[in-house]
Amino acid sequence: MYLTREEETMLSGKKGKAVQKAMEILVQLGQIYGASKLIPVNSVHMPGSSIVVTGEAGVEFIEQLARDGAGFAAETALNPAAMDMQCWRELNFECKDYDCQKRLTTAYVDMGAIPLHTCTPYHNGIFPQYGQHIAWGESSAIVLANSIFGAYTNREGGPSAVASALTGRTPLYGYHLEENRRATVLVNVIEKPVTISDYGALGYFVGEACRERVPVFTGMEHPVTMEQFKALGAALASSGSIALFKMVGCTPDASTVEEALGYHKPEAVVDYGSAQREQSHSLLNSTRGGEVDLVALGCPHASIFEIKSIASYLANKGKRCKSILWIMTSFAVKKMAEDLGYAAIIEQAGGKMVADTCLVLGALKPVILKYGFKNIATNSAKTAHYAPGQWSLGCYYGSLKQCLQAALSGKWEGEDK
Ligand code: F3S
Repeated sequence: MYLTREEETMLSGKKGKAVQKAMEILVQLGQIYGASKLIPVNSVHMPGSSIVVTGEAGVEFIEQLARDGAGFAAETALNPAAMDMQCWRELNFECKDYDCQKRLTTAYVDMGAIPLHTCTPYHNGIFPQYGQHIAWGESSAIVLANSIFGAYTNREGGPSAVASALTGRTPLYGYHLEENRRATVLVNVIEKPVTISDYGALGYFVGEACRERVPVFTGMEHPVTMEQFKALGAALASSGSIALFKMVGCTPDASTVEEALGYHKPEAVVDYGSAQREQSHSLLNSTRGGEVDLVALGCPHASIFEIKSIASYLANKGKRCKSILWIMTSFAVKKMAEDLGYAAIIEQAGGKMVADTCLVLGALKPVILKYGFKNIATNSAKTAHYAPGQWSLGCYYGSLKQCLQAALSGKWEGEDK
């Protein structure tokens, strides 16, 4: 693999042990995937930002890098943490977990990371540019970076993201190459999605059907909002390993089906109608007939528009929640919701804005035991996919209105009211 003189210097150890180790990781990765060279990246989204992902060994590794004086060469933002970094005590997260998370976050910050602790950096002022090469982890953010912003990133794991942050480089392979970005599966959308959970159901079905291939969607109603794209992308990346999708007339390089397919015939054609929608719903609804203990909204982390619509619904109903209601977001968006008065409306109704974490990356075991959560309701296909297996929770999956209705009544009624 070709290396520039500067990259050879990094590999030789002249720029410190951490940079040398990082270059070794990238060169090895590049050799495995047949990369011809490394390319510069100036944006990294760090997937190993929660102690649930890194474990104690990972925390020690990151702390050691910081102690050795390592610094990030690329702008680096952190994915969700294992708890709300301010309200962890009130939410019943454990002190020992907080102490461990604090060590991890501090070490990353010492190396130059921004502790946004969110999976929606684009709701927090971080927008990759069209054609920009980046090294992002976090499947729900990667798929939007590639598909909506038209940036180029592979699905980075913890070690490769740290290595890219330290060197400002990534190997040229996978989604960094134009030839791998062509759609190969044509998806005819017959049942048009409307709600966030409809987009999640569509993504969940297509993710399973495509696995790692690139789908192109036709037949969608335009425009599609960022919140709808976010739900679609997170679901595609949950049931499949999809890092890039195209939507005719909506996403870059997809002004026609032919352009999205790179003027080739599709390898497969998938129809999405009411039967396929039902199939997604029955896979994502893993429980029935019971109480709802927790309503979890904001996966991927909620935008200010989503929070505003939750506040409006609760203000109109004028009732208090019987279930626990969590709206998960970044601390920056939470602050905006507080300043704009939405958080106060939600809290008056008994809901809680939870920052920095989520149901998948949170150190939730003690929290679940303390509250006695058994059944949750969510409008997120990603939460419905992971939370039951991870925490043995039953899950109801439906629209935002159905979830809010469940929060108010304490039961899953399954109808929009
Ligand atoms: Fe984000 Fe956590 Fe969902 S990282 S996409 S809120 S599972």
